[in-house]
Amino acid sequence: MNRKRVAILISGRGSNMQALIEAAKAPDYPAEIVGVLSNRAAAPGLALAARQAIATASLAQSQFPSREDFEDVLTRVLESWEVDIVCLAGFMRILSARFTLRWAGRMINIHPSLLPRYKGLDTHARALADGATVHGCTVHFVTPGLDEGAPILSAQVPVLHGDSVQTLADRTLAAEHRIYPEALRLLAEGKISLP
Ligand code: GRF
Repeated sequence: MNRKRVAILISGRGSNMQALIEAAKAPDYPAEIVGVLSNRAAAPGLALAARQAIATASLAQSQFPSREDFEDVLTRVLESWEVDIVCLAGFMRILSARFTLRWAGRMINIHPSLLPRYKGLDTHARALADGATVHGCTVHFVTPGLDEGAPILSAQVPVLHGDSVQTLADRTLAAEHRIYPEALRLLAEGKISLP
């Protein structure tokens, strides 16, 4: 099997990253995780990946004069890893149109809401404030518009009476960990493409 080479971009905890790493351990999984890059050197996910002998890199945008310069180095790192697919997993940097177009159809993201509802931040708090009864998460292609690319898979979770942001986030996260590896599988097997 010709496994696709995947890099994961993170900024923090890395639990979705870990879900992808675990999935890729299955012999029939069509992708391998070849590197993890964080824009924060202190991201716990970076140390977690390094402990599993996965190549890691950290690149802070503040080290560069512009976003373009940052992204040029990011591209060079991804090229050095011979990456086919990029998975954003809690990567808290907005990427330029130039970068997203370069990776069009080969870069995906997990977002903690049922898109197109609640693009951007604080999705759980906003769903609770609206009195939503159903919430969830979406894996989607990354395109220049924030959280606007075509959805690949989504999962619903119920909003329960008495939920806090934390309990709703925890329930949603469990669904994220389920659908992200499934979505990457679909892309790596060539079963989906950017419309
Ligand atoms: C997740 O909720 C994900 O949906 C969002 O950022 C969070 C990252 O968490 N994009 P983790 O670092 O994967 O644990």
